[in-house]
Amino acid sequence: MRLLSRVAEVREAMALERQTNPATKVGFVPTLGALHAGHMSLVRAARSQCDFVVASIFVNPLQFGPTEDFSKYPRTLEEDCRLLKEEGVDVVFTPTAAEMYPAGAETTVDVGAIGDRLDGASRPGHFRGVATVVAKLFHIVAPDIAYFGQKDAAQVAVLKRMVRDLNFPLRIAVCETVREADGLAMSSRNRYLSQNERRQALVLWRALSAAKDAVARGETLAAKVRQSLVDTIAAESGARLDYAAVVNADTLLPVEHVDGGERILVAVAAWIGTTRLIDNVVV
Ligand code: PAJ
Repeated sequence: MRLLSRVAEVREAMALERQTNPATKVGFVPTLGALHAGHMSLVRAARSQCDFVVASIFVNPLQFGPTEDFSKYPRTLEEDCRLLKEEGVDVVFTPTAAEMYPAGAETTVDVGAIGDRLDGASRPGHFRGVATVVAKLFHIVAPDIAYFGQKDAAQVAVLKRMVRDLNFPLRIAVCETVREADGLAMSSRNRYLSQNERRQALVLWRALSAAKDAVARGETLAAKVRQSLVDTIAAESGARLDYAAVVNADTLLPVEHVDGGERILVAVAAWIGTTRLIDNVVV
């Protein structure tokens, strides 16, 4: 496994791989690091479907708001590299902020209105930051398949739109959300939770399960499904709702009915203490 921190080094490694194996299929897993089993499921999917696997670890300042957790975001590079090596990753790209955003870098990728929905509404500018860094990483690595988690469903919708709108020659593969045994979606931010908050955080999964059950029982009105999310979150005193949404999974626009033949995303974001957590199910 090669650990590379310069854009030029990655380009060179990719050019060499393509020259040596013209038919090589390159898989790419972008991350912020602090890797857990959710990230590793993406890496494993890439390893099983591709010939050459690249992962990136970069805490992207552009996607964090001014009052968000950029500076305290967990950084565990050594352990991350050990895990990636174990899974047979070929190249890990760990650029510095100056390498990704040299002085004077001002061009960004604006994905339009979809970038202002769900997390984009709660975190203004977040998806511009995500789209910009992922576009840059796609140009640097030039993968055939890029792997993302369903856990960040709005991010998936935004990036699929970007790939389509800007003609990136690659496919986005989406991997199931990996959960703890009790249902809590794995997240690097779970490590911010106290023991008590860890218990309170289960309300997200409870809310989504209740919504899923309501649909299974025949509820077709999106407003009713959404209300069951709101009510479940309200019943947990340790949680504060950020958003509850029942939307089209591709456009992130609200739907009225959940049985209209569209892929429906039921998504929730809530604050547990000072930690913001998100989760979702597709019904
Ligand atoms: P990060 O939060 O590190 O997540 C990296 C990838 O892992 C994302 O595609 C995310 O959806 C996926 N992932 C996280 N938790 C998961 C879980 N429990 N199950 C399955 N997949 C999971 O998302 C980002 O980083 C950044 O926005 C990034 C795309 C790297 C751009 O900076």
